Amino acid sequence: MSANAERTWTVVELLRWMEGHFREQGLDSPRLDAECLLAHALGIERLELYLQFDKPVVEEERAGLRELVRRRVRDRVPVAQLTGRKEFWSLPLEVTGDVLVPRPETETLVEVALGFLPDREGEYEILDVGTGSGAVALALAHERKKVRVLATDLSEAALAVASANATRLGLADRVGFAAGSLLEPALGRRFDLVVSNPPYLAENESAGLAPELAHEPAMALYAGPDGVELLESLVAGVADVLATSGGFAVELAPDQAERVAGFCRAAGLEDVAITPDLAGRPRVVSARVKTENEEAPKNAHLDEASGAEKGGE
Ligand SMILES: C[S@@+](CC[C@H](N)C(=O)[O-])C[C@H]1O[C@@H](n2cnc3c(N)ncnc32)[C@H](O)[C@@H]1O
Repeated sequence: MSANAERTWTVVELLRWMEGHFREQGLDSPRLDAECLLAHALGIERLELYLQFDKPVVEEERAGLRELVRRRVRDRVPVAQLTGRKEFWSLPLEVTGDVLVPRPETETLVEVALGFLPDREGEYEILDVGTGSGAVALALAHERKKVRVLATDLSEAALAVASANATRLGLADRVGFAAGSLLEPALGRRFDLVVSNPPYLAENESAGLAPELAHEPAMALYAGPDGVELLESLVAGVADVLATSGGFAVELAPDQAERVAGFCRAAGLEDVAITPDLAGRPRVVSARVKTENEEAPKNAHLDEASGAEKGGE
């Protein structure tokens, strides 16, 4: 593309060139990356490229594309950060450098969570700890039209992104937001389901990881020297915010599953289960609290706290 700037390039020629270039540079999904970036540069949906294969791409559009290609290859910026968009659970989400790019394996967490919400019309109260872009909270609110979700995060910047996503998807009236660490914003309330995809990488793991991760917030990735620190704290406190028979589901790294299942049993949780992701790796630990929990007001947050304020941004 750069050597022959004067020639005419069609959509299909650019796609082939980018795919080859990305493959040579060792990117994991060269064709998909090429399609996403070209569609973004042309201001169209990815599938529309296939209807416009022979269309010439003008120099102005190619100039924007060159910059995207450079940042993808040289700086290893994730495609979702270059386009500002990522699809999760078929929902188009805005993503910025302030949030984790939602991962396909997190859809397993959504599936397990939905198993705790069997009645499609149920008025369940849900807590999503560490919501990031809002991916899990919004997928659940989208699937169950009467649930109410409190989505929390330690990062105010992430909450702003999640709140904008809730508004864009028309879910802001049922998804509220609160800043704080782990279960702290939820204390004093009871939920039918607590779900979380917390940071679970060990701090010393960063050296061997994909360079793309350097563009995501460290706060979204690393939990401490061991990796299970936040998972362990969550498990230890979750019974305090669960209603009787309430469910709990967390995402984790495959090699953490047995340990976290052990934390759940030690905390007195029941029905402890490990669910694999689509690649067959242990990905989600779930459990239920069976004890009679004392009554506490459910989700006062949506009336009193940030739901209305942040959702209306
Ligand atoms: C792995 S990301 C998950 C984001 C989103 N739920 C998803 O699945 O795409 C973890 C999120 O937890 C947040 N976080 C980190 N430490 C936290 C803490 N102590 N309490 C609450 N949230 C925390 C991060 O800011 C980040 O948004």
